[in-house]
Amino acid sequence: MLKIEKKIKKELIKTVAKSFKIKLSLEDIVLKFPPNIALGDFCFETFEIAKKIGRTAQETAKILSQNLKLDILDKVEAMGPYVNFKVKNNILFKEILGKIVKKGLAEKTKQKEKIMIEYLSPNTNKPLHLGHLRNGALGSALVEIFKASGNKVISANLINDRGVHICKSMLSWLKWGGGETPETAKMKGDHFVGKWYVKYGLEEEKKPTLKDEVQEMLKKWEAEDKEVRELWQKMNAWVYKGFKETYQKFGLKFDVFFYESKTYKLGKDIVEKGLKKGVFQKEANGQAVAQLPQSKFGLNKDGKPNKKVLLRADGTSVYTTQDLGTAVEKFKKYKLDKSIYVVGSEQDYHFKCLFEILSQLSFDFAEKCYHLSYGMVYLPEGKMKSREGKVVDGDGLIAEMEEMAKEEIKKRDLKNKLSLKELNERACKIALGAIKFYLLIANAPTDLHFDPKQSLSFEGKTGPYCLYSYARAKSVLRKANIKTKATIQAKQTNFSLLKEREALALARGLLEIKIALKDAQAELNPSKLTQAVYNLALLFNQFYQALPVINKKNPNLTQARLKLVEAVSVALKQGLNLLGLETLDEM
Ligand code: ARG
Repeated sequence: MLKIEKKIKKELIKTVAKSFKIKLSLEDIVLKFPPNIALGDFCFETFEIAKKIGRTAQETAKILSQNLKLDILDKVEAMGPYVNFKVKNNILFKEILGKIVKKGLAEKTKQKEKIMIEYLSPNTNKPLHLGHLRNGALGSALVEIFKASGNKVISANLINDRGVHICKSMLSWLKWGGGETPETAKMKGDHFVGKWYVKYGLEEEKKPTLKDEVQEMLKKWEAEDKEVRELWQKMNAWVYKGFKETYQKFGLKFDVFFYESKTYKLGKDIVEKGLKKGVFQKEANGQAVAQLPQSKFGLNKDGKPNKKVLLRADGTSVYTTQDLGTAVEKFKKYKLDKSIYVVGSEQDYHFKCLFEILSQLSFDFAEKCYHLSYGMVYLPEGKMKSREGKVVDGDGLIAEMEEMAKEEIKKRDLKNKLSLKELNERACKIALGAIKFYLLIANAPTDLHFDPKQSLSFEGKTGPYCLYSYARAKSVLRKANIKTKATIQAKQTNFSLLKEREALALARGLLEIKIALKDAQAELNPSKLTQAVYNLALLFNQFYQALPVINKKNPNLTQARLKLVEAVSVALKQGLNLLGLETLDEM
């Protein structure tokens, strides 16, 4: 909380006590922003107090505005049910700008938590697709957002490295691969294995009994058959090499990796114990199941309560088996306060079941698990589908976007000043920034159409627009240092000179982005921060267009405006970095 806010709240408490004999605490009071900056910097809604004292909100606001006096305020005014507060410009700017330049956007939390954020978590049968990029953008942004307020964050990646789908690509390669390798095929390893997975799908359509061979292979795998295990290791190693390249390119870092091939065993033990204790049931055909309470899961189409399979009839384990093991492993090994799973919305039901089953097993950590769910990503052509081979391949998309970014940069580089190295670096940052920003500004739960061209535009709610705004702020600061040799000292700056609507709106944009960062964390919603970054960039451009920053005849005004631009540059940079975008000083 800003000092200004605290002072206003304290004074409100005093005034309410004096005027209405009601005791309030700091937490009771919520200050909001008036819809129009001309009305003031903060406002307070009086409905609740009015109810308590049996007056109208209008009367209450009026009385409060007449009785409240505070030296940091220029004006206190009642407007309908609201009390509006206008803070003295000098004080407002000094505190906001000072705080942001010195401490950045985040407020450090008093209660530091240990949080695991699991994201990406691919299967080892195919390359990463556009949906994974949305996952990666969300997951890595969330990691940075939680870290910014001082939490201990562990980023985790669960690799689903075993199971039916993996056996499919293995069987396919064994049958039709003819000894080909990623090297001989000159393909990235994950793409190479993906090719055989797609081939399997096509063959299975012609010959459905292939499924039995896959199941046979899975049984052998679980029985640790030497040949099957060797094949599995070889093919997974190809995939990991490919994944690693993509992680590096897209800026994804992981502190720990979990492997289903390890945690599924722990999962099996947990299921066995649950069966013994009578928490789970073994059905006539031999499969182990958990019953799902009707109150939360309704009834199935036969009018019976739902259940979740935990082990197949042949004893092999399923997706849920490994997730039980993985969840226990996470809490046991890392003593977490929170465990967050970033996984697509098609698995909402799976996670609802998983958390339910964990609590049936009386694990108290069941309540500390959260699922950050996100929607599908479509390209204009339609849905991504791996089995049909029509995936929107992540690597391919990044490469294509880089090419498009290069063209755009070249168009702007009229004097051909950029070296090839600079061109490539810029294109990379702009392309990745465009993808990430586009994927992050949308609300996570909603499905989304990714429009490559629009995402790269320098206009509108895009990464390049925000990156460009940052570069513009930096350029203003650079020029100022050369032209005016201004040493930007907050203490000697006369902020009361910043009176214009555009300057005030920009100050509010700075306040809003601080709040957005807090909300993004509390609601597991990076979109909040992304919106605020865009908004700040927009307000900065409006300010820049309306008010010349450098004014040789008025060095004091120049200094105050420069200080504002400096804070904006700090806020934009930090905001963009938290979202995984790398800034450019020149664009
Ligand atoms: N590998 C899974 C998939 O691609 C996602 C895993 C998510 N994490 C988990 N703990 N279940 O669908």
